[in-house]
Amino acid sequence: LKLLFVSPEAAPFMSTGGLGDVAGSLPKALAKRKDMDVRIVLPLYQGITDRRGFEFLGSGYVPLSWRNQYCGIFYKKLNGVTYYFIDNEYYFKRTECYGYYDDAERFAFFSKAVLHMLPLIGFIPDIIHSNDWQTALVPVYLSTMFSRDKRFQNIRTVITIHNIEYQGQYDLNIAGDVLDLSGKDVDIVEYAGSVNLLKGALEASNIISTVSESYAREIFDDVYAHGLAPVIRKNASKIRGILNGIDTETYNPQTDAALFRKFSSKSPEGKQVNKVRLQSLMGLPQDKDIPVIAIISRLVAHKGMELIARGIHEILKEKVQLIVLGRGDRHFEFFFKSLQDSYSSSIATRIDFNSDLARKIYAGSDLFLMPSISEPCGTAQMIASRYGSVPIVRETGGLKDSIRDCSLGDGNGFTFSGQDPEALSDAIKRALSVYHNREDWKNLVKTVMNTDFSWDNSALKYFEMYKSLADGGKKS
Ligand code: GLC
Repeated sequence: LKLLFVSPEAAPFMSTGGLGDVAGSLPKALAKRKDMDVRIVLPLYQGITDRRGFEFLGSGYVPLSWRNQYCGIFYKKLNGVTYYFIDNEYYFKRTECYGYYDDAERFAFFSKAVLHMLPLIGFIPDIIHSNDWQTALVPVYLSTMFSRDKRFQNIRTVITIHNIEYQGQYDLNIAGDVLDLSGKDVDIVEYAGSVNLLKGALEASNIISTVSESYAREIFDDVYAHGLAPVIRKNASKIRGILNGIDTETYNPQTDAALFRKFSSKSPEGKQVNKVRLQSLMGLPQDKDIPVIAIISRLVAHKGMELIARGIHEILKEKVQLIVLGRGDRHFEFFFKSLQDSYSSSIATRIDFNSDLARKIYAGSDLFLMPSISEPCGTAQMIASRYGSVPIVRETGGLKDSIRDCSLGDGNGFTFSGQDPEALSDAIKRALSVYHNREDWKNLVKTVMNTDFSWDNSALKYFEMYKSLADGGKKS
């Protein structure tokens, strides 16, 4: 089975969050199967600085409306996966991956280049799997301007929604001039009077998947769907939910070079060393008995930051330390920085996106707080678990599907529902009371560390999904 995974980012080359992690680890897990040929394509951003082993494969020009743009292709094999990089310095030699006025044009170019490169690299996949709005035009182009291309007739398409909030919405007048769509084809990307790239992919793809079963149900609801619920309902038969895994090789406290001391569920002693060293690194009093609560998150509303802000004074009545790492909306950044100023002996804030520090925090904290209002899957709660930091989560999306409350007997964390800050502080208090019972806490940390969040189960589900799609799609 030949798979082309198309993603705006993929670890270890470029990752700004959960999507980069998934695109780095799912293809790798699938490539372990002998019956799969897995390749992945992403833009050659300026930020991809380590280009050791990159080989130049060829180049061409990609037409985009009245433009004709250079496209170079590099590749590299890693962990059984072939990575392709689309090179165009005008579009991708910039400091950030996204957030530019011409993002629509940049990713329209990228999406079209992906299809143009296939004959050049001599690889016609059975499945093209796109991810999020940046790659949403791939299935749209395939079903419009390439629909009569005999070489591409058997390709089937999957779009994964990693977060339905981000849709790629633009003024309708870019449809022709920038996206190179005309006539009836514009209808596919048109939504509510605008261009909506994600909507285009939802219409054009054979399967729509999302990253947990709960989120796959939630997006039928307007509260979660950010305006796209009618499109989801219309395409209901195409929707699937498969929970993400994490790369248990890179996230492994037994081998992680970022840690102060390595440890495992069998010999967890090293976790204490990480805790005390972390406290000193963050300028907090060194105390191995005080519970350390960590937040590693984008500091935005849907991650539950408002809820934390409303509940923080209740939380701070407890004897705890709080460590916050993340970047995001200015007012939340300001909020956590000023908290640190007012409570410098119990709160440490770092406004940063820093994977090395994140690993130290996962390893050195006791509890991991993730009260997201919506969460398609969430990877942080899984990584935290692997490093023995017990998750406290709000029951939504993938958080609900990955963490069960301890009161249920076989729990691997603490959960709460609703949007009442008291529900949050209750969950924290319950966690703290277990924390203060040494034996119970030791057992819980062990259970949490041993929870299987590897890709094994989910990669198999993806494989089965691809297989039935490819088999069902074969022309007789
Ligand atoms: C997005 C979602 C997150 C998910 C990740 C990977 O970042 O917000 O919940 O885990 O994508 O699928």
